[in-house]
Amino acid sequence: MTDAALGRPTTHANLDFFDDQHPPAGDFLRDVVSGLKRAPKTIPPVYFYDRKGSALFDQITEAQEYYVTRTELGLLDAIAPELAERAGHGAVVVEPGSGSSVKIRKLLDALGDPAGYVGLDISRDHLLDACADLKFDYPELSIGAVCGDFTSGLDLDHLPLPQGRRVVFFPGSTIGNFEPEAARSVLAGFRKGMRRGDAVLIGADRVKAAETLVAAYDDAAGITAQFNLNLLTRINRELDGTIPVEAFTHLSLWNTEKSRIEMHLETTRKVSFSIKGEHFEMEKGERLHTENSHKFTPQAFGKLAETAGFQITQSWSDADEFFTLYWLEPRWDA
Ligand code: AVJ
Repeated sequence: MTDAALGRPTTHANLDFFDDQHPPAGDFLRDVVSGLKRAPKTIPPVYFYDRKGSALFDQITEAQEYYVTRTELGLLDAIAPELAERAGHGAVVVEPGSGSSVKIRKLLDALGDPAGYVGLDISRDHLLDACADLKFDYPELSIGAVCGDFTSGLDLDHLPLPQGRRVVFFPGSTIGNFEPEAARSVLAGFRKGMRRGDAVLIGADRVKAAETLVAAYDDAAGITAQFNLNLLTRINRELDGTIPVEAFTHLSLWNTEKSRIEMHLETTRKVSFSIKGEHFEMEKGERLHTENSHKFTPQAFGKLAETAGFQITQSWSDADEFFTLYWLEPRWDA
């Protein structure tokens, strides 16, 4: 397929390399059914992002209450010269969970003369689209794609990469979606195989007033509510579900003890439904837990980085101290 109007191929034809590791596809039915048999009921947040969910997420990033994206973008602009200095000449940017198209362009522009880019994502089509678009805009850059699961580590050794320092870019506070032990494991996976001078540039959302956090995940226009409820619509459509979507309401809760925002879907009455013929019931007021978004104090993030084998070389925050970008380098004593 080609987008003729733009002349942008959506195959890997224009890329410098494509490494398909054939990651096992997430099994939507199995994960939904097993999550609904758990107590409390949960569904992993990866399933938010069908076409509609991805469009709603883009709208969330523009909602007034959702300060996360605009704060990180502003920070990237503000610290561009410092990032260029940190990265030096000819850096190779590695992006696990490729797809933050505006942010990656800001970083590449900030670096001035990067030598390469590697996108890594579990979704082959999404990955190839994102990388092909990037190659179209940065034809001089060596651009490659790896279809794989970044939560099982970054294996870059066999790739035909330019020589420069590798900078792993992990923006958006995506790290906050993982429970503490999984977050440590994701970072430790980035750490493995790193050489002296290599680094991680990672964005992490900060602990702040509970009402600010709760509102960021429950905007007044109801976009986040739609985003959350869309998961049920997706189950009904793709898994022959009969969930009465109108009997659920969106909840955004601050969990102080676990330092995280939780999103749930709560029933307004007793409901029963089936998914591929399998029957489920929920009591009135019962919740389905759909997402965790952990927030970090600098101290807590420092601990996390340290236990994953990193040290914080530098960090940058906005004036409100809502969000922080960290430059992490491997600890060699560990
Ligand atoms: C994409 C996981 C970083 O947790 O802030 C936004 C997802 N969920 N609003 C976040 C999200 C509801 C977002 N991350």
